[in-house]
Amino acid sequence: MADEPIVLGIETSCDETGVGIVRGHTLLADTIASSMDEHARFGGVVPEVASRAHLDAMAPTVESALAKAGLKFSDIDAIAVTAGPGLAGALLVGVAAAKAYSVGLGVPLYGVNHLAAHVAVDQLEHGPLPEPCMALLVSGGHSSLLLVPDVTREVISLGSTVDDAAGEAFDKVARVLGLPFPGGPYIDRAAREGRGDAISFPRGKVDDGTLDFSFSGLKTAVARYVEKQGDSVSVPDVAASFQEAVVDVLTRKALQACRANGVEDLLIGGGVAANSRLRALAQERCDAAGVRLRVPRPGLCTDNGAMVAALGSNLVAAGAAPSLLDIPADSSMPITTVSV
Ligand code: KG4
Ligand code: ZN
Repeated sequence: MADEPIVLGIETSCDETGVGIVRGHTLLADTIASSMDEHARFGGVVPEVASRAHLDAMAPTVESALAKAGLKFSDIDAIAVTAGPGLAGALLVGVAAAKAYSVGLGVPLYGVNHLAAHVAVDQLEHGPLPEPCMALLVSGGHSSLLLVPDVTREVISLGSTVDDAAGEAFDKVARVLGLPFPGGPYIDRAAREGRGDAISFPRGKVDDGTLDFSFSGLKTAVARYVEKQGDSVSVPDVAASFQEAVVDVLTRKALQACRANGVEDLLIGGGVAANSRLRALAQERCDAAGVRLRVPRPGLCTDNGAMVAALGSNLVAAGAAPSLLDIPADSSMPITTVSV
């Protein structure tokens, strides 16, 4: 519909400066500047480096998103921004910029939850979200199972990691294997040449009756194994066996959550959702369980501005109250807060 509001979304919770523009749930632009190259030599995201990079990238990324969408500032009807959770200093840059654009353009501001935005983004590709749906969010910063009755109002946490996030485990194991950072894509690639059943690695908390995850025992088991094998270690077999342990637990618990709550739609998001084995095994197990699976394309799974714009668009459509101009960046925003 041509008269649907145009929402500009800003994401700066980690190392990506993301700006997305949507009209309703039609994606018009999705522009990203990443500071990952600046962090790679440290083997992890350095918060202060990320904040400074956001500052440099903010205005040019907004302008390039507008250019890509063929729009002017005056076409924007609302601004949405990730207000949390994430790195405090990094969030602050996006929130401050969003407030400035909101005041400057005279349009409402919506401060949103990063995790809820990871759920909302799927609508840009697969249409309206089924209500309720189950969401498995797996990235470098989070591993959560969320029951989503209504993404604009109610998101319920059913379980999360008690130690490392899934992506963090991929990154740490990659380091042990001498692969570059961030390690997820490299493990995914190496695993294609190896066997997932070559080494039996532990599946933390798999049958403990909760919907929580634990990956630190697995990470330690891999490190011990690699140390013991020394030069004769098969990187592809370790990568494939580690990956199998992670995706086995993730998919088992996700389907357990669907069953326990009578939910027939599972959505997977976050950077780890780009993992080819996770996508394949989730599809296999969803088919067997009669659950419909939705996974956005990889570019929408990793952090981006379009996801923030997508949730902002939901909030505008639902008539949600805009955020006040004094909203803080909340690095530990709980998932029960969809918007502030
Ligand atoms: O969502 P994201 O871009 O940023 C966070 O919010 O953390 O996720 C990044 C994480 C990294 O840990 C990265 O290693 C992981 O997602 N990742 C993958 C793959 N692609 C990215 N993990 C496994 N397999 C992949 N193909
Ligand atoms: Zn994320």
